[in-house]
Amino acid sequence: MNITVIYSHPWEGSFNHAILKTVSESLAKNKHKYNIIDLNKEHFDPVFKSKELALFSKGKYLDPKVGKYQKLIENSDHLIFIFPIWWGDTPAILRGFFDKVFLKNWAYEQSSSGLLKGKLNSIKGSTLIMTMGSPEIYYHLSLKSSVKKNIFSRILKMCGIKKCGLFAFCSIERSKDSYRKKGLEKIKNYIKNL
Ligand SMILES: Cc1cc2nc3c(=O)[nH]c(=O)nc-3n(C[C@H](O)[C@H](O)[C@H](O)COP(=O)(O)O)c2cc1C
Repeated sequence: MNITVIYSHPWEGSFNHAILKTVSESLAKNKHKYNIIDLNKEHFDPVFKSKELALFSKGKYLDPKVGKYQKLIENSDHLIFIFPIWWGDTPAILRGFFDKVFLKNWAYEQSSSGLLKGKLNSIKGSTLIMTMGSPEIYYHLSLKSSVKKNIFSRILKMCGIKKCGLFAFCSIERSKDSYRKKGLEKIKNYIKNL
C-alpha cells in the first residue's frame, strides 16, 4: 500500500516520536511505500493569511507545501495521523493542515445547495493514533467520540475516506513502560494487517 503519515509533534524526545518510529519501522518491514509529513520539522505554517483566504473559495493556494502535500495524499491508499490531544482536539498545526490542504474542488465539491461531496474516494482508509494526559475512562466517556466526530466524520469521511482506525494512549505521562510497549505492539500488528 501507499501510505502517508501526518505527524504533529514538535519534540523528538516525546512518546509521539516513539510512535512515529514504530509506525515507520513497521511500514518498512511490511514493504509498504510510505511518506512522512512531519508538520513541525517542515515548518508548516497553519495560519491562513488574508491573501490565501481570498483564494479559498476557488480551491487555490499560495503555499507550495500545500501542492506537495496534496500530491502525496492523492497518491495514498491510507493516511495515518499521529498527534497528542491538546485541549480535547488535535494540535493547531494539524487543524491548520486540514484548513489549508483539504481544499475545495480537491478534497470535496460543493453543490449549489451548499451540500458537500467528498473527492478523496480513492483513499481506502485512515488511522488516528493519539496520546493524552486523561485517563482511559475519560477517553471512553468523552474524548473518543469528540475526536472521531471532529476529525473522522466532519473531515475525513466528509471528504470521501470511508474507514478509520483509532489508537489511544491514555494517562501517558503516568503510564508504565509495559502499557506503552503493549500499545506499540498493537500498532505493529495493525500495520502488518493493513
Ligand atoms: C497545550 C496542551 C493541551 C493539552 N490538552 C489536553 C487535553 O485536553 N486532554 C488531555 O487528555 N491531555 C491534554 N494535554 C496533555 C497531552 O495530551 C500529553 O502531554 C501528550 O499526549 C503527551 O504525549 P507526548 O509525551 O508525546 O508529548 C495537553 C497538553 C498540552 C501541551
